Amino acid sequence: MIALDFSGQTAVVSGGLQGIGKAIADLLHIGGANVVVGDIAVVKPERDRRYVVQPCDVASRTDAQALITTAREVFGGVDILVNSCGVSAMSPVDAMQERDWQRILDVNVKGLSYLSEAAIRIMKTQRAGRIINIASQAGKNGYRLMGQYVASKHAVLGLTRVMAIELAQHNILVNAVCPGIVETEMKWRERQQGAALRGLTADDIYAEDCSQVLLGRTAQPLDVANVVAFLASPLASYMTGQAINVTGGMTMH
Ligand SMILES: NC(=O)c1ccc[n+]([C@@H]2O[C@H](COP(=O)([O-])OP(=O)(O)OC[C@H]3O[C@@H](n4cnc5c(N)ncnc54)[C@H](O)[C@@H]3O)[C@@H](O)[C@H]2O)c1
Repeated sequence: MIALDFSGQTAVVSGGLQGIGKAIADLLHIGGANVVVGDIAVVKPERDRRYVVQPCDVASRTDAQALITTAREVFGGVDILVNSCGVSAMSPVDAMQERDWQRILDVNVKGLSYLSEAAIRIMKTQRAGRIINIASQAGKNGYRLMGQYVASKHAVLGLTRVMAIELAQHNILVNAVCPGIVETEMKWRERQQGAALRGLTADDIYAEDCSQVLLGRTAQPLDVANVVAFLASPLASYMTGQAINVTGGMTMH
C-alpha cells in the first residue's frame, strides 16, 4: 500500500460538512494536510490546529474569496482546492422551475468558478496547485428527471478542461472526478423525489441503482475520496484536464 503524505500542504474543500466533501476533507486531514472546509450549513465555525470550518455559500463571490483568504492567513497558501459542494433537483424537462435553474447553476457552476478563481490567484504565485472538481457521471450521460443537474455537470466538465488548458503553464493541474451513485443525503433525497415522480418506492430505485453498477453495489463517499487523494498527490503529477469515473463500472467513457 502506498501511504499518501500531504504534510505541510493546505487543502480547501467546499461542501465538506457531510457526504463526499466530508470524506475528502477527513482523508486529506488524516494524510497530514491542513484543511479548510467551507459549507453553507456551518452554524458553528471551528478552528483546530490543522482543521478550519467556516460558513461559506460558494454562490457568493465574497464568501468564496473569504474562504481562500482564511486558508492563506491561517496556513499560508492553498495547495489543493476540491470543489465538492453541489445541489440537485428533480423534475421533467417540461416542468423545470426557475428557482431550481438559478440555484443549481449558481452553486454547481458559478460557485465552483468563484472559489477556483480566488484559489488560482494564490496558486499562480506559488507556481503550483491542484484543483479537483467533483462533477458526476451526469456530466457525461443523461438521466431522467435530472435535466438541470445534468446540464450543470456537463458545464463543470467543460470548465475543468478550459481551466486545465489555461493553467498548465502555471503548473496548476485541474481534473474532475465523476462519481456514480454515492450513498449520501443528496442521493437519499433524490431517491425520495424520484420515487414520488415515478410512482415507485425509494427501495425500488435503490434496487434499480444497484442493478446498473457492474460491481453490484453503490459507492460510499470514501470510494470517491480515495481517487481525489490520488489526484491531489504526486502520483498524479502527469494528469490534467481529465474526468475520472468512480462509478463501479456504470460509466465507461
Ligand atoms: N451522491 C451522489 O450520488 C453523487 C454522484 C455524483 C456526483 N455527486 C456530487 O458530489 C458532490 C457532493 O455531493 P454529496 O452527495 O456529498 O451531497 P450532500 O448533499 O450530501 O452534501 C453536499 C454538501 O454541500 C453543502 N452545500 C450545498 N450548497 C452549498 C453552497 N452553496 N455553498 C457551500 N456548501 C454548500 C451542503 O451543506 C453539504 O454539506 C456534489 O457536487 C454532487 O453533485 C454526488
